[in-house]
Amino acid sequence: MTGSSDKPMEHNLSQIDVIYDAETIADRIEVLSQKIASDLPEDVLIIVILKGSFIFAADLLRALDSSGMQPMVDFITIWSYGASTESTGTVNLTRDITEDVRDRAVLVVDDILDTGRTLAYAKNLMTSRGAKTVHTCVLLDKEARREEPIEANYVGFPVEDVFVVGYGIDKAHRFRSLPFIGVVRTS
Ligand code: XMP
Repeated sequence: MTGSSDKPMEHNLSQIDVIYDAETIADRIEVLSQKIASDLPEDVLIIVILKGSFIFAADLLRALDSSGMQPMVDFITIWSYGASTESTGTVNLTRDITEDVRDRAVLVVDDILDTGRTLAYAKNLMTSRGAKTVHTCVLLDKEARREEPIEANYVGFPVEDVFVVGYGIDKAHRFRSLPFIGVVRTS
């Protein structure tokens, strides 16, 4: 669209290479939820890191329910990328949870584990507030980019060092609504 048009911008899907399709994601979430349900207490408090993991978390929560869990949920907004495709190097907390995590089993859910700063920050925050246990679950693991010594307890898929979009994950606030994970082709 042109800057002055009042029509919504359309995604040019021919520019996006699919790396994990909707069915593959759903199958993997089913497996993850069964593993989580066998490891963690049924009333685990799930802390969803916004914004990128909102679709993953919604599907994971429903799969956990089907696996016999009754998780509670809260949300925290932490960002290190903003509208850029490069990490700013600092973690910014702009919306905190409202639940008290003291003496509770917590599962922190994020979309992508990249340098590790965001997940390490969230994990340390919950530990410092007195959570009984803090486990972590990410949809994608960009292991090659790690700068903090952290691994997630539950990982959906590995991903190369490419900027991914879709399934809640954005590029400058676009592409979150795509039902798959893809890479925007640059050439
Ligand atoms: P760190 O470096 O803290 O980054 O582990 C985790 C957060 O960075 C965002 N991120 C991405 N967002 N496409 C995105 O849209 C990407 O390829 C990407 N890699 C990292 C994401 O918000 C994640 O929570």
